[in-house]
Amino acid sequence: MATMLEEPATRAAVHMEIEDGLAVIRMNDPARPVNVISAGLIEEMGEIIDRLDAGEDGVRAAVLISDKRGSWIAGADIEEFKNFNTPADAEAASRAGQTLLTRLERLRIPVVAAIDGAALGGGLETALACTYRIATDSPKTKLGLPEVNLGIVPGAGGTQRLPRLVGLRTALDLMLTGKQLDGRRAMKAGIIDEVVPAPVLLAVASRVAMELADRKKTPKSGRSTGSPDRLERLAPMRRLIFSKARQGVMEKTHGLYPAPLRLLQVVERGLDKHIDQGFELEAKAFGELAVTPEARSLVHVFFTSTAAKNDPGLTSGAKARDIDQVAVVGAGFMGAGIAATSAEAGIRVRLKDVKPEAAAKGLRTARESLSKRAKRKRLRKFEVTKLLDRVQPTTEYTGFHASQMIVEAVFEEVSLKHRVIQEIEAAVGEGTVLGSNTSTIPIAKLAEASARPDHVIGVHFFSPVEKMPLVEIITHAGTADWVTATTHGYAKKIGKTPIIVNDSPGFYVNRILAPYMAEAALLLQEGVRMEAIDEAMTEWGFPVGPITLYDEVGLDVAQKAGKIMSEAFADRMKPSDIVDRLVADGRLGRKNGKGFYRFGDDGKKTGPDESVYGVIGNPAARELGDEELQERLALIMVNEAVRTLEEGVLRSARDGDVGAIFGIGFPPFRGGPFWFVDRTGPARVLERLRALEQRFGARFAPAPLLEKMARDKTLFFPEDA
Ligand code: 3HC
Repeated sequence: MATMLEEPATRAAVHMEIEDGLAVIRMNDPARPVNVISAGLIEEMGEIIDRLDAGEDGVRAAVLISDKRGSWIAGADIEEFKNFNTPADAEAASRAGQTLLTRLERLRIPVVAAIDGAALGGGLETALACTYRIATDSPKTKLGLPEVNLGIVPGAGGTQRLPRLVGLRTALDLMLTGKQLDGRRAMKAGIIDEVVPAPVLLAVASRVAMELADRKKTPKSGRSTGSPDRLERLAPMRRLIFSKARQGVMEKTHGLYPAPLRLLQVVERGLDKHIDQGFELEAKAFGELAVTPEARSLVHVFFTSTAAKNDPGLTSGAKARDIDQVAVVGAGFMGAGIAATSAEAGIRVRLKDVKPEAAAKGLRTARESLSKRAKRKRLRKFEVTKLLDRVQPTTEYTGFHASQMIVEAVFEEVSLKHRVIQEIEAAVGEGTVLGSNTSTIPIAKLAEASARPDHVIGVHFFSPVEKMPLVEIITHAGTADWVTATTHGYAKKIGKTPIIVNDSPGFYVNRILAPYMAEAALLLQEGVRMEAIDEAMTEWGFPVGPITLYDEVGLDVAQKAGKIMSEAFADRMKPSDIVDRLVADGRLGRKNGKGFYRFGDDGKKTGPDESVYGVIGNPAARELGDEELQERLALIMVNEAVRTLEEGVLRSARDGDVGAIFGIGFPPFRGGPFWFVDRTGPARVLERLRALEQRFGARFAPAPLLEKMARDKTLFFPEDA
C-alpha cells in the first residue's frame, strides 16, 4: 500500500515526497527565478540527506528533480560571490558545496538526477554526484561547467568528478571553454546516461531509481582514480594532453586569465590522487581565484549582461509585443544572417530582395548557416526541414502584413532606405515595428521618410550575425516605448544581448571604436610597426588588434565610417589619411586579399605587407613600448565611452560595458570601460588623460564627467566598490 509523507513547508526551496520507498526531492526556490545553490539551499539539502542517511521512512531510492520549468540548477548563487572578502571565505563556500555533494554521492541509496533545464556549474556538479543522470531533449536543457567564464574553477567537485567520468580530453574541453551541451550532446560526451522527452522524465527517473535499488542496472562511476580512458592513464599521453591544453590557453588568452591555467593544474595534480585530495586542491584554487580582480570583473559582466537582456529600462512600463514572424528586406550577408538567427529562435521569416537571384542567394546563405547549426545540435531530419522551412524568400512585400517586426538591411544609402521604408509601410499596418539595420545613418533621418515615425527604430547587428552576441537598439526622439520594448524583446528572443542607445553619430559602439581606430592609424603614421600595435592590444586583452580589425572590417567601410565620425566630432576624430591612401592603392582588406596584412589563397593572414610602409610614406622605424601604445589606444576609447554617457547617448554605464565587451571585444576581464574606470580610479584615469592631452593635444581632453567624478570621489558602480 502506498504511503505518502509530505514535508511540512518550513523552508520552501526543497521538499521531499516519499511513496513506496521512492523519495522524490523537488527543488523550487520561490524567491528566485532559477534554482541556485545558495547557503540556504545547502542547509536544506543537508537536512534531507540527514534523513535519507538515517534510513528514515524506508526509502530505497531517490530522484532529484526541479519544479521550475526550464531550470534544474543554474549553479552556485553568484550573488553570494560578492560577499567573498578573502580567499578563505570563498574556500569555505567551496568546501560546503563539496561536503554536501560528497554526502549525496556516498548515500547508501541510488539517487537519479532528473534534469530538465539548465544544469550548469554547481548544478552539473550536483548531477555528477548522483548515481545516474537523465536529461530531457528540451532546448532549455543545457549542461556545462561555465565557471572559467566567471574567472573561477568549478568548486563543488567538478574538476575531479568530470575527468574521472568522461575522460580527460572531454572534461578539459568542457571546463576550459565553458561550453554548454544539450541533452543529446551531453549523452554523447558520456555525462548523461539517458535522454527522454520532458513529459516522461519523472516516470522514467522513478523507474530507473528503483531498478538501481534492485541492482537491475549498474551505474557508471566518476569516483575512480584517473581517467576512464586507458590511453589517458599513460603518463606520456597525459603530459601531452596537458601541454597542448596549456599551449591552447596561452594562445587564446595570453595568460591574462588566471582561471584556465589554475584549472589545468588542479586537474593534473588531482587526477592520480584520492578524490578527497583532489577536492582539497580544488577548494584552494576556487578560494584564491574567486577574489581576483579578473573574477570580480567577470561576475560584473554576468550581471550587467543579464540585466541588459532582461530589463529594457523603460520607465513608462510599455510592454513588448510578441514576435512570431519577421520580414527582412535585403538578402545580402547581413540580411541572410538576421533571417537565419531569427529562424533558429523559432520565428518565421520572409526574406526579400529585389531580384529573384538575390533572394535565392540570401536563402541559400541562411539555410547553409542553419544546416551547420542543426548538425552541431544533432537535430533529427524532420526538425532540420522544419527549421529550414521557416525562411521563405520573396521579391514582393506579400505576407509582410503578418510580421510584427520588419528589419531592413539594404545598402547604406539614405535615399534607398527612404524608398524601402515607404514601400514597407504601404504593405504593413499600424503596429508593425520598422527596424533599420543601419550602422551609420541617423535613425531620425530615416524616420523622416516614414508615415509612422514612432514605429521606426535602429536595430544594429554586428557581423557575422550568427556569432556576434550584441544588438544595439537605437531610438530617435519620437520612437514609441512599445516599439523599443518589442525590439528589445525580439533581440532577446533570438538570443542576443541588447543595449538601447539614443540616436547620435556612430551610436555607441562605432562611436567609441572610431577614435581608437584613428589613433592606431596615427601610430602607423608616426612610424610604429603594424604588428607592434596589434600585439600591444592583444596583450591588453582584445581578441584582435586595431590594424587587423581594419582588414577585417574592410578599409573602404572604415574610410566611410571614419569620415562620418570626423564630420560629427571634428575636434578629436580627424582621420589620418593613411586609410585613404591604402584604399586608393586598391587595398580593401581581407575581402580582396590585400590590406595592411597579406593573405594566402585560403584567406588566412600570412604576415604584414611591408609595401604598406611605402604607401604610407614612413619606414616604420619607431619603437614604442607596449605600455605607451596600450595607454593611448585604450584610454582614448574609455574616455569616449564616458562622453557618450555624459551626453545621454548611453542610458547607463551598465549598457556601456556590455556594448564594448560584446560589440568590440573589450577585454571581459577588465569588465568594460566603465568598470575599468572604477577599478583604476577616476582620478588616475583623469591624470593619465591629462598627461596624454599635454603631449598629443585635444583629442585626449578628459571627459568633463571624469573630472567631476575625480573631484567628488564617485564611481559608476558604487554598489560594487
Ligand atoms: N546565481 C545567481 N543568479 C542567477 C544565476 C546564478 N547562478 N543564474 C541565473 N541567475 C539569475 C539571473 O541573474 C537573472 O536574474 P534577474 O531576473 O534578476 O535578471 C535570473 O536568474 C534569470 O536568469 P536569465 O535571465 O539568464 O535566464 P535564462 O533563462 O535566459 O538563462 C541560465 C538561465 C542559462 C541558467 C543563465 O542564467 C545562466 O547561464 N546562469 C549562470 C550559470 C552559471 O554561470 N553557473 C555557474 C555558477 S558558478 C558555480 O556554480 C560555482 C560552483 O562550481 C561552486
